[in-house]
Parts: sequence; C-alpha cells; structure tokens
Amino acid sequence: MSRFSKITSRKGTRSVKWDYAEELYQDKEVLPMWVADMDFEAPEAVIKALQHRVEHGIFGYTMPDDLLKDQINSWLKKRHDWEIENEWITYSPGVIPSLHMIVQALTEKDDSIIIQTPVYPPFYSVIKDHGRKLVENPLNYIDEYYSINFEDFEEKIKKNNVKLFILCNPHNPVGRVWTKDELQKMSDICLRHGVKIISDEIHADLIFDQRAHIPIASLSKETNDQVITLMSPTKTFNLAGLQASYLVTANEELRQTVKKQFDNQGIFMLNTLGMTAMEAAYSEGEEWLEELLQTLEANRDYVVEKFHSETSSIRVVPTEGTYLLWLDCRALNLTHTELKSFMQKQAKVGLNDGGSFGEEGQGFMRINIAAPHELIENGVNRIIEAVQKLKLPS
Ligand SMILES: Cc1ncc(COP(=O)(O)O)c(C=O)c1O
Repeated sequence: MSRFSKITSRKGTRSVKWDYAEELYQDKEVLPMWVADMDFEAPEAVIKALQHRVEHGIFGYTMPDDLLKDQINSWLKKRHDWEIENEWITYSPGVIPSLHMIVQALTEKDDSIIIQTPVYPPFYSVIKDHGRKLVENPLNYIDEYYSINFEDFEEKIKKNNVKLFILCNPHNPVGRVWTKDELQKMSDICLRHGVKIISDEIHADLIFDQRAHIPIASLSKETNDQVITLMSPTKTFNLAGLQASYLVTANEELRQTVKKQFDNQGIFMLNTLGMTAMEAAYSEGEEWLEELLQTLEANRDYVVEKFHSETSSIRVVPTEGTYLLWLDCRALNLTHTELKSFMQKQAKVGLNDGGSFGEEGQGFMRINIAAPHELIENGVNRIIEAVQKLKLPS
C-alpha cells in the first residue's frame, strides 16, 4: 500500500478539519473536505526527526541557526530556481501572522490595499481589521479559465492611491499558477505606481503538470526590492499545526521595518518542533513530495473526469496548483444559501463556502483533494448521487 492510500483517523487529535467539522456542520455523517491541510502523514524523515527531538525531553527556548537558513536557501534554489541570500530570511509562526504584521508595518490607517478576488478569506480581514481600505481587482472568469484584468488593476491602483498589493501565487481558490508574463505585467504596474507587493506563495511547492512556480521577487532586481515573499513548508509537508514559516525580503529597509513590527509584538522565535520539522522536510522530504504530487494529480484527474462525465451541473475549474479544487455549481440553479445547504444536508460533504472567498464565489464551492483516493471517491460519489436526485422530476 502506498503511503498516500493509508487512511489515518484524525478524530480526537483536535483536528480542525475532522473534530471541529462536527460542530461546524452539526452532523456526524458529513465527510470533511474543507480546511487546507492534508489527510496524509508527514514524511517519515520528519516524523523521525520529531521523535528524536521529543526524546531529548527538554523544550526550552530555541533559536534557528545558519544551517536552517542554508536548507531554506537550497530548497528555493532547487525547487524554484530562486537564488536568495540567507540574510533575507525572517521567521514567522505563520503566513497569516506575517500578513497582519506587514499590513501594520507598511501602511497607515485608511491606506488602500489591493487584492485579486475571489481569494483566500483572511486577505479581506487583514485589511479590514486594521482599518485599511480594501480595493478589489476581480479576476476574469472566461471559458472556465481565470485571468487577470490588468486594466482594472492599474486603474484601481491609480484611483485609490494603493500602497500595497497582496498577491496569491499559486492562487487559492482558483488554482492558477501565474505565468512569467502575468507576473511581469503585475510587477510593472506596481513599480510604475510605487506599490509594494506581499506575495503569499505558501502553495508554491504544489504545482502540477511540470509547470514552474515563479516567485515574483525573482523577476528582476527592481521587483525584488519591492517584494516580501511569504513561504512555508507547512502546506507542502502537512505541518500546519507546527506553525513555522518565513518571509524573504531582499530590501534591507523593508526587512528591518517588518522585523521591528514582529519584535514589537514579541514574536522573535520559532516553535522548537516546527524548526525541527522544517529542517527535516527541506533536507529529506523531496522524494515524498514527488510522490505526493503524483497522488494529487491523480486525485484531481479523477475528480474532473467523474464530475464531467456524470453531471453537467458541476464544472471543475482546471487547477494548475494547490490541492484545492474550485467547483462551479451555478448550473445547479440554486441560490448560494441553497447550494451550501445542498452540499451539507443532501450530499453530506463539508466543503468550503465559495461565498467566503468574496462576492465572485457565489455559486461556487471549494473541495480539498489532499486525502487518500478512497475518501475522495466517497465524497465525489456523495455529491453526484445528490445531484442526480435533485435533477430527477418529482
Ligand atoms: C493562500 C494561503 N495563505 C496562508 C494560509 C495559512 O498560512 P498559515 O497557516 O501559515 O498562517 C493558507 C492556508 O490555507 C493559504 O491558503
């Protein structure tokens, strides 16, 4: 049996996806296919390294050393052909905390920040919670393909005197891996108008079909100077509960400004076990990752094939990266509230509400395919059977 077909029960582990699902969906029967972590065990090398560290028995204050930075550095070079300097790295417990820190450090109250919608829900809250002005650049969705409306992007930046752009690459939830050309256009516009870029690249390692993930900061020296890149091994290796991530900032002034914000909030350390896991994952996890990518591609192909051959009412938006599929359910002809209730009560699957990603997500749902095939098959069958019942004349 492959390590990716093994079903490991997560119930009773305080798992958000499994244990909290019961409270959220108010139904024990609902199969959770929502929050973005995986139902796979982490790489054996990570588990071993953690066991070894736990056996030591002392968990006092711990600090990251140069070795960890070397490992991050060579991972980025090897996987993304991105050459960075170790001093550009700053640690953070997570990408969301980093987003909050950066927004506070680089903008003032009422400053405008632009995002491309529909997008990961915390992008909205990190702007609104700090009294900044939210500016939306909705993605185009034409012939089941998402792309960027560059004219609108530049217009909105000019009109609102935008200070910061939060980019999501690969994009959650629409699954686009932005091309060099698209990134270059976004970068050119931002450079023209003095807009700094926060690039959330947490899904960077989860890229399909031999595509390349291009860190926007790697485009040129000028762009690198304006970008803070947020990365982490937590999505890639299923370590989200260990809370260990990092920022890459070439611009010294920008880096010190953000670092000061972290210091002022008392955040200047990494979780001991998170550090151990990051080191093991980056130094020994590559083979596991290659196998994971094949598993995810197979799950994706299965879900697309199954939906498209058995119902015309749900279209799976083609995904280029991330293990999150964006389901266009508008042909079911349900209101968005009815759609959510249909998935939960009739199909008995726990999906992410498309509407939580923004107005453009009405009529869409997000499904997580990072689970053993058996669970994915079970979930997809539940949806198809419920759709078929819905379509039968009463
Ligand atoms: C785009 C994106 N950014 C950030 C996060 C969360 O990052 P963290 O757990 O490091 O705060 C997620 C998790 O789903 C995500 O999809």
